[in-house]
Amino acid sequence: MRTNIMPRVVTRNHKVILVAGGAGFIGSNLCRRFLDDGHEVICVDNFQTGCRRNIAPFLKRRYFRLIQHDICDPIDISGPVHEIYNMACAASPDRYQEGPIHTSKTCFLGALNLLELARRKKARILQSSTSEVYGDPEVSLQDESYRGCVNTCGPRACYDEGKRVAETLFWEYGAHKGVETRIARIFNTYGPNMDPEDGRVVSNFIVQALKGEDLTIYGTGKQTRSFCYVSDLVEGLIQLMASDEKMPVNLGNPCEFTMLELAEKIVKMVRSRTGVAFWPLPQDDPRQRRPNIERAKTILGWAPNVGLNEGLSTTIEWYRERLAADKEAEVPVGQ
Ligand SMILES: NC(=O)c1ccc[n+]([C@@H]2O[C@H](COP(=O)([O-])OP(=O)(O)OC[C@H]3O[C@@H](n4cnc5c(N)ncnc54)[C@H](O)[C@@H]3O)[C@@H](O)[C@H]2O)c1
Repeated sequence: MRTNIMPRVVTRNHKVILVAGGAGFIGSNLCRRFLDDGHEVICVDNFQTGCRRNIAPFLKRRYFRLIQHDICDPIDISGPVHEIYNMACAASPDRYQEGPIHTSKTCFLGALNLLELARRKKARILQSSTSEVYGDPEVSLQDESYRGCVNTCGPRACYDEGKRVAETLFWEYGAHKGVETRIARIFNTYGPNMDPEDGRVVSNFIVQALKGEDLTIYGTGKQTRSFCYVSDLVEGLIQLMASDEKMPVNLGNPCEFTMLELAEKIVKMVRSRTGVAFWPLPQDDPRQRRPNIERAKTILGWAPNVGLNEGLSTTIEWYRERLAADKEAEVPVGQ
């Protein structure tokens, strides 16, 4: 596919940045940040899980372009592209398991097509990898040297293994094709623009608490996760892109909570009277997840700043407003 985006006059600090998956949760937060910083943004998205409302405020901005496109198909862009952020892939297990073969294709073919674009444009490219490359880890603090414990033939494999092979592709293009590649291993991130309906734990708990429904806990609720607020992650991604580091870097918040602790906190903050409902643990659900971020600290000088209380309180307010707007407009939630 060739688009008809016209090349623009580019000043020294003004970059043209392509965000694949720019209508999704993290992608739309990145787009906003780049526009606010004065860059030109090309958002490429197939709207599988992305939401037009996430990018609606950008459509009237001069330096924002939207291309509806599936990255499983080759893509070409006329004019310069300086940086590419590959954020395109459904991240919620419910959503990526709906079309597992498409998920694997997005991870592999999508990465390949964007790497080829980066090679032709001489652009830097960053891959949004994930803590899922560690699978169900046997160690409690995962650093980048840990090779993971992943099931190749389970419901999460299309995503976990897809992300692993994407890292390999990035590494090979960096080593053998002269492409400036970066790999961020992102741990659970939350914040505004996260689809209320996509089944991830923070959005689930907040929406259920706001609606006065019992919070769904899978298994005993003693499994742990660590949660990074989206503005911290965006900063980490930008710093990683600007660095010289070609090997994977963990980005996440190392403060660890059990699902029960998270549920309790959210119920308290929403001032909800709801309880919890226990459901069977899905297959291959990781029991623990906590990043070692020493490399990010040393190489990038990056560490998260936003604590869980502060981040949750902003996120709860965003969901409150979003649900109220949906109700008023009678728009089905998630559109
Ligand atoms: N949010 C997290 O906690 C988290 C954790 C680890 C890794 N990540 C990674 O970060 C990236 C963004 O995650 P997110 O939470 O914003 O997810 P999201 O589902 O909100 O956004 C993904 C975006 O990619 C688009 N997309 C999916 N497949 C596509 C395709 N084939 N072609 C074009 N567009 C496509 C979707 O429509 C959506 O806009 C993903 O690659 C995910 O694996 C996220």
